[in-house]
Amino acid sequence: MDWQRALEVAVAACHRAGSLHLQLRDQGLDIGSKSTFADLVTRADRESELAIRQVIAAAFPDHAVVGEEGGQLGDSRYRWIVDPLDGTVNYAHGFPFSCVSVALEVEGQTRVGAVFDPNRQELFSAIRGQGARCNGHPIRVSACPDLETPALLATGFPYDPAEGAHNLELFSRFLRLGLPVRRPGAAALDLCYLAAGRLDGFWEFKLNPWDVAAGILIIQEAGGQVTDLSGETYRYGGPLLASNGRIHRQMRAILSP
Ligand code: IPD
Ligand code: CA
Ligand code: CA
Repeated sequence: MDWQRALEVAVAACHRAGSLHLQLRDQGLDIGSKSTFADLVTRADRESELAIRQVIAAAFPDHAVVGEEGGQLGDSRYRWIVDPLDGTVNYAHGFPFSCVSVALEVEGQTRVGAVFDPNRQELFSAIRGQGARCNGHPIRVSACPDLETPALLATGFPYDPAEGAHNLELFSRFLRLGLPVRRPGAAALDLCYLAAGRLDGFWEFKLNPWDVAAGILIIQEAGGQVTDLSGETYRYGGPLLASNGRIHRQMRAILSP
């Protein structure tokens, strides 16, 4: 497999979707709800996913693609994982923190990832073993040595408030310690901000593969650490803890029961 070519396809798909986000924002969004009233879906989510699937199919017709809106199509050891619009609630309100995320995994291991923020025209990307980049420039996680520096942290909450209750308690633990915590609202971009050293730590529960596949690779290639809350291997859908590595142990201690 030519990973550079795979990345070029991921980037082309991201740019196509990002252009649609900007274009459709001015043309009426046709906003609807999915699992709860706050779980929004727009024309941009649906049309971006179709466009991304077209770009991938034109280059790699035999590959499988799983996307948030259309589910999995095809069966192959090569599987593209697509969030056509991450941060839909932000997007629908004109709050400019949203992105598109495209990753390629081979037999369960992510090899290529791209996340594009059309608001700031920033493209984060990585090929496994070849480092992480933002708009072509190498990026590294921060050097923040401990939480008291202070570290800047972020988290997120699922749409179903019952599922998010547990994290409210953890969120308040950090706040009660006087630590700055943000809730930006687009997990794929949160992970890239960590990779670029703009955040020092991030945690969230129950994220889907399309929210995190590209971002995790980009963090790892930028020198960061991604685990579950016990420091073991992260599994899609479970608790995710990401950091610059240096504050991982301290964050784990606060997040532990
Ligand atoms: C959501 C965002 C948000 C996270 C939610 C995700 P969507 O994705 O990534 O930050 O907290 O859990 O579902 O619905 O905007 O693609
Ligand atoms: Ca998402
Ligand atoms: Ca989405």
